[in-house]
Amino acid sequence: MQAHQQATTRQFDPQAQAYLASAVHAAGPDLAQACQLVAANVPSAGTALDVGCGAGHLAFQLAPLLAQVTALDPAPAMLDTVRAAAAANALANLDTCPGHAGALPFADASFALVASRYSAHHWLDLAAGLADMRRVTAPGGHVLIIDVQAPDHALADTHLQCWELLRDRSHVRNRNDGEWRALLAGAGIELLAHHRWPLRLEFASWVARMRTPPEKVALLRQLQQEAPQEVAAALQLEADGSFTAATGLWWGRVA
Ligand SMILES: C[S@@+](CC[C@H](N)C(=O)[O-])C[C@H]1O[C@@H](n2cnc3c(N)ncnc32)[C@H](O)[C@@H]1O
Repeated sequence: MQAHQQATTRQFDPQAQAYLASAVHAAGPDLAQACQLVAANVPSAGTALDVGCGAGHLAFQLAPLLAQVTALDPAPAMLDTVRAAAAANALANLDTCPGHAGALPFADASFALVASRYSAHHWLDLAAGLADMRRVTAPGGHVLIIDVQAPDHALADTHLQCWELLRDRSHVRNRNDGEWRALLAGAGIELLAHHRWPLRLEFASWVARMRTPPEKVALLRQLQQEAPQEVAAALQLEADGSFTAATGLWWGRVA
């Protein structure tokens, strides 16, 4: 396993309960939109895979709509948390599987829906991850991606990626809408719809969730305080370091 993947798993494994409790992850307009798209387009007898399921918030929403949902993540404690929450909520059609994007342990064309939420910005080789998602999607099946959407403003993008990396050493890159469109097309996934919502990140809980060391929090605050006015405006930077990024949802189909 690559060093980045090992570091990412070490970073997330102890934080499973924090992600289960996280308001940013447990709710959001993207989850309602995802359910609407799935209910309208994926047969209820279909099966789904959630890649990088974390504490399971997307998988929990999908399970009542489909026959079977598999939640996959490299962090064992995340999978334990998903199993416990699924049992507590009587979601008997939700199973878990260890693994990571780009090396999905499933046969070709296994699922009617392959989804991923707030995970792809950690993947070292996003093109390979998407190609593998496409591989395990049945012909005519759907792919759902939800992730932080990078700003189109180049300088705001650079600052946001720096803040993210200081906060979380497993951060690779947030992509903007144009990059996502090119990546999906490159993987042979036809884009059917895109939605975008503001995503306010409250600073104290944002860094606490990743156990960011105090010296990195101080650096992050310094970068924010030195951010040019146009960056502060683009990211709606607040006095305490809270800011508003964006969540993007990309809904696609596999031929
Ligand atoms: C922010 S959490 C996921 C949130 C969750 N999907 C939700 O909707 O609440 C990101 C997850 O991605 C997982 N992850 C990181 N790198 C991954 C990879 N290469 N393949 C699959 N999952 C990965 C982490 O272990 C972590 O559980």
